[in-house]
Amino acid sequence: MNFTEIATNRQSCRKYDASKVVEAEKVQAILQAARLAPSACNGQPYRLTVCTGESAKAVAKATMGMGMNRFAKDAPVLIVLSEEPYVKTAAAGSKLKKNDYRSMDIGIVAAYLTAEATAQGLGTCILGWFDDAAVRKICDLDAPVRLVITLGYAAADDPLREKKRKRLEDLVQYRE
Ligand SMILES: Cc1cc2nc3c(=O)[nH]c(=O)nc-3n(C[C@H](O)[C@H](O)[C@H](O)COP(=O)(O)O)c2cc1C
Repeated sequence: MNFTEIATNRQSCRKYDASKVVEAEKVQAILQAARLAPSACNGQPYRLTVCTGESAKAVAKATMGMGMNRFAKDAPVLIVLSEEPYVKTAAAGSKLKKNDYRSMDIGIVAAYLTAEATAQGLGTCILGWFDDAAVRKICDLDAPVRLVITLGYAAADDPLREKKRKRLEDLVQYRE
C-alpha cells in the first residue's frame, strides 16, 4: 500500500474480531514504525505500553465510562500512550513559543502507529476517552496517559466507510 492507500484504508475500527490473535511480529512492526515518528527536538516525550490479556481487558474497561467505547473490550491489544518529560531544548522552546509540542508529538506517533497497523491489515481506534487514573494504575505509570489505541483484526462485517471530511476548499488557503 502506498501512503494514500493507507490513509484511505485507515479508519476508526469499532468492531473487532475478538477470536483473532494479533501476531507478535505485526505488533513489533507497528512499534518499529512508531519509533520512527518525528518529534520536537527529537525528544520523543512518550512511552508506549502494550497491553494484552488481562491488562488489555482492564484498560478497555477504563475507556468505557458513561457507555463509551464498548467495542474496546473485543480488541486483543491496547496500546497506551503516556507522556514523558520534555528534553531540555523542547521544554525551552515550548515555554518561549507558548506551544504544546508534546501533544503534537504524541499525535504524530499515534498517526505512525495507526498507519503501519493499516499496512499490516489491522484495525485501530485512537481513544481520547478513558479514566487516566485507572489506566495509570493498570500500566504502572506515574505520568499522564494521553491516548489509548485499540488494535486488532476488524470483524468481517465491518466495511470500509467513506471518509467524512471538510472540503479541501474549507481546509486549505493559499497565499502568494
Ligand atoms: C485524539 C483523538 C481522540 C479520539 N477519541 C475517540 C474515542 O474515545 N472513541 C472513539 O470511538 N473514537 C475516538 N476517536 C476517533 C475519531 O472519532 C475519528 O478519528 C474521526 O471520527 C474520523 O473517523 P475515522 O478515524 O474513521 O476516519 C478519536 C480520534 C482522535 C484523533
